[in-house]
Amino acid sequence: MRVLGIETSCDETGIAIVDAEAGLIAHRLHSQVDLHAVYGGVVPELASRDHIRRILPLLREVLDEAGMRGPDLSAVAYTAGPGLLGALLTGASVARALAYGWGVPALAVHHLEGHLLAPLLEENDLAFPFLVLLVSGGHTQLIHARALGEYELLGESIDDAAGEAFDKTAKLLGLGYPGGPALSRLAETGEGGALRLPRPMLDRPGLDMSFSGLKTAVLTAVRKGCHEPAVIARAFEEAVTDTLVEKTRRALEVSGAPALVVAGGVAANRPLRAGLRAMAEANGVPVFFPRPAFCTDNGAMIALAGLRRLQAGASEPGLTISARARWPLAELGLAAPGTAAA
Ligand code: KG4
Ligand code: ZN
Repeated sequence: MRVLGIETSCDETGIAIVDAEAGLIAHRLHSQVDLHAVYGGVVPELASRDHIRRILPLLREVLDEAGMRGPDLSAVAYTAGPGLLGALLTGASVARALAYGWGVPALAVHHLEGHLLAPLLEENDLAFPFLVLLVSGGHTQLIHARALGEYELLGESIDDAAGEAFDKTAKLLGLGYPGGPALSRLAETGEGGALRLPRPMLDRPGLDMSFSGLKTAVLTAVRKGCHEPAVIARAFEEAVTDTLVEKTRRALEVSGAPALVVAGGVAANRPLRAGLRAMAEANGVPVFFPRPAFCTDNGAMIALAGLRRLQAGASEPGLTISARARWPLAELGLAAPGTAAA
């Protein structure tokens, strides 16, 4: 069994092939960062148009690298949501057309299921059930993953996502877009502990989080002008790391989950990885991260999620093209999602 994965939910076009026995066979990624940088954020219409330009050339490269032709594949998986509707529709339409042409099933994949299964692209003994800390540009969630398609939301950010907080803080510090990696690089040069920012909602019980107040604290620090940007960046990263580590520790306690998965773009952050690793070790729980390149959006995680779904007997009926801008992970199950723009 061998699945092609197509990711086009936001500003990255990702294509990959994953084989049930051999694992990841080939993958290609085109990032639109340069296209959107001048606007300071993703412009949805430009994103859709660029996906259209990139998908087929990337697909040819992936097939060539794998030494395969379409009919060698067992299914075509695509990101059906959540994400930018226009961007999702480009990937969904191409995936559906390829599947029809090759006479194989198409599989609608939830973007966040892709993220949380990404550690399974590596050789390890990760298996359900596990706790997931999902930290991306759009989501910050603690999820109890009981089985494929069975995800219970334990807590989430009530305002900005962690990645969004990184991006907005980077903007305040004049670091450009996307800010996460740039802010983290700057923080490496700042003195630790020189400035202390609040740890939002750590004093309250429960597993929800909040990051918008932290952004305000950064703005205040910038206006005061008492600290170097690198010190502020370091203080911000420390506050986010402490908050995420402590909430994750509580979620492990509450859920009793025997393993921890950390996924999404912010999982590439080094101090966060180190903090979570130390906490998990202290609690005797194994922790699994995707390799940094597969923390951010990519086609490999979509191909893998598609493969797991195919193995579990899932496929989309008829010629459905599924795309949902909003799609709560807890609604997932193993069935096809249908189409809804809301
Ligand atoms: O998962 P992802 O690629 O896209 C979404 O589905 O949202 O996550 C992108 C987010 C951006 O906010 C980016 O700034 C952040 O992940 N990010 C990082 C790092 N690398 C990416 N944040 C902090 N440190 C990093 N090294
Ligand atoms: Zn993502």
